[in-house]
Amino acid sequence: MNFIEPSIEQYAITKSNRPSQVVRDLGEATKESVPMSMMLVGEMEGSLLGFLIRALNVNRVLEVGTYTGYSALCMAENLPEAGELITLDIDDELTEFSKKHWSQSSHGQKISKLIGPALETIPKLEGEFDLVFIDADKQNYLNYLKLCLPKLSDKGIIVVDNVLWSGNVLKSASELEADDKSTEHIKALNDYVSESPSLYGTMLPIRDGIFLISKI
Ligand SMILES: C[S@@+](CC[C@H](N)C(=O)[O-])C[C@H]1O[C@@H](n2cnc3c(N)ncnc32)[C@H](O)[C@@H]1O
Repeated sequence: MNFIEPSIEQYAITKSNRPSQVVRDLGEATKESVPMSMMLVGEMEGSLLGFLIRALNVNRVLEVGTYTGYSALCMAENLPEAGELITLDIDDELTEFSKKHWSQSSHGQKISKLIGPALETIPKLEGEFDLVFIDADKQNYLNYLKLCLPKLSDKGIIVVDNVLWSGNVLKSASELEADDKSTEHIKALNDYVSESPSLYGTMLPIRDGIFLISKI
């Protein structure tokens, strides 16, 4: 869901530095041939991720949730030449598709994709990350946050997507659909961040809600 009036968001996008043509082609190819293309972060969020990477002089990124590799390339093209982005996904099916598009960009070589459940992969990762982008299975959002916090560099931030979940976060447990397996977990992450004295969080109502989190 998008909480901003579409023409206003479009104006903001046209006045922003946007993802490259290669990223836009990857987005279009995803919409044409891959199911669930609404999972793409889109140009506004892609621009924001690029801005954060540049403003914080990010060198090393961890992404949880690759899908077709759109957000990975949005971020990689704003990393310095020696920068590195590790992206995690449980699914190997779209790896060839992503690599075909990443290879069309000079920034694609900064990206490595690791396959497997992120809960198992994250503890095995070595070194610190300057930016972690969490955009995978919502049931594990708080687990991902807790696993990634100790891996942040001093200047590091965590960016969590979909924290407003189409507005469902406003609903009480009894108002949620019986088969809703995500909202309570997203609310748990939002509550954890807002109640933690050691975290500084800013929730942006951009697209489906984006939480910017750093350690105090
Ligand atoms: C919302 S999509 C990511 C979209 C991507 N960030 C973009 O905008 O281009 C979520 C991805 O998380 C992956 N995923 C789901 N469960 C996972 C798990 N347990 N571990 C790792 N990845 C998982 C899915 O396969 C899917 O590709």
